[in-house]
Amino acid sequence: MTTSLSTLQKYKKEGKKFSCLTCYDAMFAKMMDNAKIDTILIGDSLGMVVQGHNSTIPVSIDSMVYHTQNVARSNNYALILADLPFMSYTNVSDAVKNARQLMQAGAHVVKLEGGAELCEIVRTLANAGTPTCVHLGLTPQSVNIFGGYKVQGKTDHQAEKLLADAKAVVEAGASMLVLEVIPSDLGKKVTQSVNVPVIGIGAGADTDGQVLVMHDMLGVTNGRVPRFVHDFLTDERNVDGSVQGAFELFHQSVQEGSYPQECHQF
Ligand code: KIV
Repeated sequence: MTTSLSTLQKYKKEGKKFSCLTCYDAMFAKMMDNAKIDTILIGDSLGMVVQGHNSTIPVSIDSMVYHTQNVARSNNYALILADLPFMSYTNVSDAVKNARQLMQAGAHVVKLEGGAELCEIVRTLANAGTPTCVHLGLTPQSVNIFGGYKVQGKTDHQAEKLLADAKAVVEAGASMLVLEVIPSDLGKKVTQSVNVPVIGIGAGADTDGQVLVMHDMLGVTNGRVPRFVHDFLTDERNVDGSVQGAFELFHQSVQEGSYPQECHQF
């Protein structure tokens, strides 16, 4: 049975945590399928981990479509999210055109970064049969506005704005949220304040689901490892040291609440 938005809604009501990993190709998607990862994100992080750029900004819609197709061909179990890349949704007409391409490539949900300014786009896509996931907090496409990959929502004012943005986009019809690199008490507050599934990455232990970039959680990095990352490949609980074992251990750790720990939080 494929995971759907209703499955995740049910998990949220029951307090059951769900797993999400980024994926960009068919073979890893097959291993995630075997490991019963609940949701797969074709993230525009592919600009960094696959294409070698130093941000997500150069990623094109054609690249997103190509990688979404590759993942979708192998997937049976997970709900598939795909990123609308930088500047591909600055107006409703571009958002509709580009979301259509991702959905036709095999995505079930499209993800876009921002806040209340996205309401019209979110409403239009929902009315056109396209569920959205809105990414708040540290939104990598705005790295040049933030001046680096820094923790967001630290001041009272920033935290209030983030909460108001989350409520506004859900009210407009967003089906999911991603919260990235914010204090864990804010992650908890947002998760409890909205009735849609919330996925966290560096947003504490209380979000409904957890996502990691696949390369990070396999220890495949060439730079500074973010604080919220855990290497599941070399974790001693991954007894056979396999990639699929790492995916299974991540899923199990999220479900049982042993990931993330205090040391992974802000
Ligand atoms: O592009 C991506 O991989 C993401 C995750 C970090 C959530 O947006």
